[in-house]
Amino acid sequence: PGQALVDTRQRPLRDLRISVTDRCNFRCTYCMPREVFDTDYPFMPHSSLLSFEEITRVARVAVGLGVQKIRLTGGEPLLRKDIEKLVAMLAQLKTPEGKPLELTLTTNGTLLRKKARALKDAGLKRVTVSLDALDPTLFERMSDSQVSVDTVLDGIEAAADVGLAPVKVNMVVRKGLNDDQIMPMVRHFRHSGHILRFIEYMDVGSTNGWDLSEVLTGREMLDRIGAEFPLAPVQADYVGEVAERWRYLDGAGEIGVITSVSHPFCGDCSRARMSPEGKLFLCLFADQGYDLRTLVRSGGSDAELAGHIAGIWTGRADRYSEVRGKAGTTRAKIEMSYIGG
Ligand code: GTP
Ligand code: 5AD
Ligand code: SF4
Ligand code: SF4
Repeated sequence: PGQALVDTRQRPLRDLRISVTDRCNFRCTYCMPREVFDTDYPFMPHSSLLSFEEITRVARVAVGLGVQKIRLTGGEPLLRKDIEKLVAMLAQLKTPEGKPLELTLTTNGTLLRKKARALKDAGLKRVTVSLDALDPTLFERMSDSQVSVDTVLDGIEAAADVGLAPVKVNMVVRKGLNDDQIMPMVRHFRHSGHILRFIEYMDVGSTNGWDLSEVLTGREMLDRIGAEFPLAPVQADYVGEVAERWRYLDGAGEIGVITSVSHPFCGDCSRARMSPEGKLFLCLFADQGYDLRTLVRSGGSDAELAGHIAGIWTGRADRYSEVRGKAGTTRAKIEMSYIGG
C-alpha cells in the first residue's frame, strides 16, 4: 500500500454512504414535500440504478482506497427489492488489513419488522432509524403518511431483538414544530439501550424552505434535557464522529447531538456519498456529483475506477457547513431524499 489517500484538506476517505433508491414511502415535509414529490415526480427508472454487482464493485474499489464504513441509505433503502442480497455481498468485503467493514443502514423503520432478521443474517451490523415525534398526530403530519408511529417503534424493537444493536434513533428537531417532542422522546428511550440522537435542522436540498429561525441548537437541546436528567460528556468513538455523545448520570444510557449548523464538523469529514445511479458526491450539500456509472458500464478496469475515484477525492475541498450563509454559498443543492443524509 502506498501513501494514504487524502483530499486538499488532508482528510482521508473513510466512509462511503450508498443511496440505493430515490423513492420513499414517507413524504417528510422537510425532505420530500408532497407538492414536489407527487405522483408525477420523475423518480429514477430501474435501468438507471446501479445493480448490486455494480454497487459492490465500486464499494470494493473504495475499500481499497481506505473506506472502512459503509452505510446504505435512500430514499428508503428497504424499498429496494432484495436489499438483503446487497448486504450479503457487501458483508464479504474486507479492508486491506483483512478486517470486515462496519456495515450499517439508515431507515424510516416501517419495513424493519419484516426485514430485520434477513438483514442481520446477511451480515448487517446495526441500523439507524429516523423518528421525529412520538405524538401520533404530529408523527403522521411530519411524515405525511398513513403509517403509525407504533409501526416504527415496533420496527426499532424488531431490529434490537435480532441484534442489530445498539439501534440509533435520529430525531430532526424543528423549532416550533416538534421541539416539544424532545422530552417525551428522552423519557421513552431512556433505559431502552437505543441511542437517541437529536439533529439540528439543516438547509439540505432546495425544496424544504429552510430558515435559521427553525433551528434549535444542540446546546439548547442539551440544556433542556440536562435540566431534568443530568448529563456528562462521553469521549468520541472515532475521529470525525458526527454526533457529540452524552450519557445520563443516572445510568439510563446514552444520547447524541448532531450540530452541523451551530458547530460544523467539516474539518474531519471523511464521507463520500454515492447516488442510486452511481454519481459520487463529496459533500451532503454538493451541487453536483461525479459520474462513476459510465466507467463501470463501459468496461473500465478496477484499477481505472480506483484511479478515477482517487483523482476525484484528491481534489476535494468541500466544507459547506463551515461557510454556510457566507457570500457565494447560495446555490442549488442535491436533495436529501436522493443522497440519503
Ligand atoms: P454512526 O457512526 O452510526 O453514528 O453514523 P452517523 O453519525 O454518520 O449516523 P447517521 O448516518 O445517522 O448520521 C446522522 C445524521 O447526521 C445524518 O442523517 C445527517 O443528517 C447528519 N450527517 C451525517 N453525516 C453528515 C455530514 O457529513 N455532514 C453533515 N452536515 N451532516 C451529516
Ligand atoms: N436536516 C437534518 N436532518 C435531516 N434529515 C433529512 N432531512 C434533514 C434536514 N433538513 C435526516 C432524516 C434522517 C437522515 C437520513 O437525515 O431524518 O434521519
Ligand atoms: Fe423518506 Fe427519510 Fe426523507 Fe422522510 S427523511 S421522506 S423517511 S427519506
Ligand atoms: Fe462533510 Fe459537507 Fe457535511 Fe462538511 S457539510 S461535514 S464537508 S458533508
